[in-house]
Amino acid sequence: MKNIDSKGHVTGTSIYIDDIPTIEGTGYGVVFDSPCAHGKIISVNYSKAKALPGVIHIITHKDIPGENQIGGILPDEELFASQEVHFQGQPIALIIAESEQIAFKARKLIEIEIDKKTVITDPREAQQKGQLIFPPRTFSLGNTKDSWKDCSHIFEGKVDINGQEHLYIETQGAYAQPLENGNIKVSSSTQGPTAVQRAAAKVLNIGMHTIEVDVVRLGGGFGGKEDQATPWAIMAALGTQILRIPIKVILHRMDDMRMTGKRHPYSADYKIGLNKDLKIVGYEVTFFQNAGAAADLSPAVMERTLFHATNSYFIPNVEATAYSCKTNLPPNTAFRGFGAPQGMFVIESAIAYAANELAIEKQQIQKVNLLKDGDEFPYGQIAEGVGLSPAWETLVSKFNLKATQKEIASFNKTNDAVKKGYALMPITFGISFTKTPMNQARALVHIYSDGSVGISTGAVEMGQGVNTKMLQIAANIFSVSANRIKLESTNTTRVANTSPTAASATADLNGKALEKACNALAKRLKTTAASYFKVDVGTIQFKDEQVLVNGNTSDVSWNQLVDMAFLERVCLTENGHYATPIINFNKDKEKGHPFAYHVFGLALTEVTVDCIRGTYEFDAVKIVHDFGKSMNPTVDRGQIEGGLVQGMGWMTLEEIKYTKEGRLLSNSLSTYKVPDVYSAPKQILIEPLETEGTDMAILKSKAVGEPPLMYGIGAYFAIENAIKAFNPAYKSTFNAPFTHEKVLMALYN
Ligand code: MTE
Ligand code: HPA
Ligand code: MOS
Repeated sequence: MKNIDSKGHVTGTSIYIDDIPTIEGTGYGVVFDSPCAHGKIISVNYSKAKALPGVIHIITHKDIPGENQIGGILPDEELFASQEVHFQGQPIALIIAESEQIAFKARKLIEIEIDKKTVITDPREAQQKGQLIFPPRTFSLGNTKDSWKDCSHIFEGKVDINGQEHLYIETQGAYAQPLENGNIKVSSSTQGPTAVQRAAAKVLNIGMHTIEVDVVRLGGGFGGKEDQATPWAIMAALGTQILRIPIKVILHRMDDMRMTGKRHPYSADYKIGLNKDLKIVGYEVTFFQNAGAAADLSPAVMERTLFHATNSYFIPNVEATAYSCKTNLPPNTAFRGFGAPQGMFVIESAIAYAANELAIEKQQIQKVNLLKDGDEFPYGQIAEGVGLSPAWETLVSKFNLKATQKEIASFNKTNDAVKKGYALMPITFGISFTKTPMNQARALVHIYSDGSVGISTGAVEMGQGVNTKMLQIAANIFSVSANRIKLESTNTTRVANTSPTAASATADLNGKALEKACNALAKRLKTTAASYFKVDVGTIQFKDEQVLVNGNTSDVSWNQLVDMAFLERVCLTENGHYATPIINFNKDKEKGHPFAYHVFGLALTEVTVDCIRGTYEFDAVKIVHDFGKSMNPTVDRGQIEGGLVQGMGWMTLEEIKYTKEGRLLSNSLSTYKVPDVYSAPKQILIEPLETEGTDMAILKSKAVGEPPLMYGIGAYFAIENAIKAFNPAYKSTFNAPFTHEKVLMALYN
């Protein structure tokens, strides 16, 4: 089935925040933000700005009726800075004017005096100074200290990984409007409607029931709108509460890039020990997470770094420690992979370093250490249904790994100025929110008396195709055609207390809730049919909008049956609730069974490096991926292609640069480069791994949103591989991204 949004997207009729028809009298909000990264606010003079014709009001921390607090996990982040500023771009006020242009003009008229304080941008420096967001955590298995004596080779090293700008096409934004009796409706481009509702209620000092948050869809979120869509939505709601007019706040691109957090940069130290058979016996790693100026989602992101610190390998002795370091950057946040990519890049670097030193190929170490069924993860869960060795075998046979290696070797022999390289990248990604209570969802289904169906769930559509999957589930159970079903917007008054659309688990959680609701309704309708036909309920089926009795088409259609049930006063509405069974995690012991299941896969990345210019092109990425039993192969392939290229961008072109003073230099699309069609791989081949799937996934179709991003890590090591063919003296620095500039330096040491 095609993505149900494809027509609207292609014809430009899909609705995003700025497509909502503007209500007369709307005020436009523009954020006034801190010009410096750390300091005490001495004074702010708004008088000139306020005097500008068309300026309606300027909201500051003083106007907040409730708490000036938006921290989702830890209460450490103000909506508007009151006494101090902690990063450049931190909101201080919201200017509301009759037009955006006027508000922007007014912003330039605000005078601020700040007593500057020391700025820290480096996580190691923050850690040394004791600037931590919360105490460090350690995951361990076996005993690393005792393991070194069993090692023939021990290597130590350091890794640096930069962040990543989300660059959703639709920037952050919200539109609030007053309803009667002080109630407020907020349309928000958020992954977390309930997060917006909860935080807004706290700031506005009103009950959650008085705030309705509505989400039609997002022009991309990628984690950047899991928590960080909230401030703009609250600002709009606050403006509406104070002025009783509709308020629209939509960030322009440069404001968005400056004010919002990104993927966390990490630094790390590792020690890896291998025995003579190349088995990894011990692995110690310390992560320094650059959290930025407030917690935001950093505790959860850091946790996932620890969960995925050993990627796809079984290592009997592991000690992984992580520090969440407080720096004067915008609070870094969720980004596809949620800390796992950083953890994986570090172990892949450690393996690459060991291979370099031993003068063998990286894949030799990768292969002998692959995780198998029954192996224990450092967090206590036992690996099940592991598809890594099968993926490896499939890749070797389907994509002819040997031939690729041969071609690359012979190409490199005959070419001096251009070299090819390759890398293998296995992935193992745990599915479930790492915080167990978040793994729940609800769905509300109405069957209208004409037989058509309306569905509401907690899932937010952000391009990943979750609405299409929801529709498929209902269409399947009722056996009605897609055009009889409507996916309603995600709305807190219809589906309450939602978890954000995140952790790749949205289709699983909301889909299973929806499945329950649809099954309950189907059963009710079958009961009606059974009594009409005077047969057993078990003999009734639905097929193509017709009622079947004992497998034979009856003269009663779906529409007639629904009408019949309605006249008999059968309830045609149902609410489904799903909570993932089995999963648990004990934070005191750092052990448990946090994931419903894991997704596995393996990618082969092939690159050509121009050794005169330092530029590179990716010839192909060939992937064997564990879809389980994909319920929508087209949507899922789209997720793999998008995730892969996004991951490759993180590893190669995308370079976030802050000055020592904490000013963002890569602050627009002219200074921050994301992959375009020319830098995407020339060929992306995807081979599904033959597996049974798991009942923990909706219709055995495994989650697919985030895992493929980590195939992109292969890009870094493929480039290294090519560089080595040109410059055998090359020493790895393990400092991502591998920009063209860095490649050029590496080619000539
Ligand atoms: N795909 C598109 N097109 N746009 C997005 O914003 N977000 C990713 C992924 N795929 C995203 C996307 C992220 S970070 C997650 S967690 C999942 O989608 C969330 O959706 P799911 O749970 O339905 O997979
Ligand atoms: N993934 C994504 N988002 C989250 C998670 C997670 O594991 N936990 C809390 N928010
Ligand atoms: Mo995705 S980073 O879990 O929104």
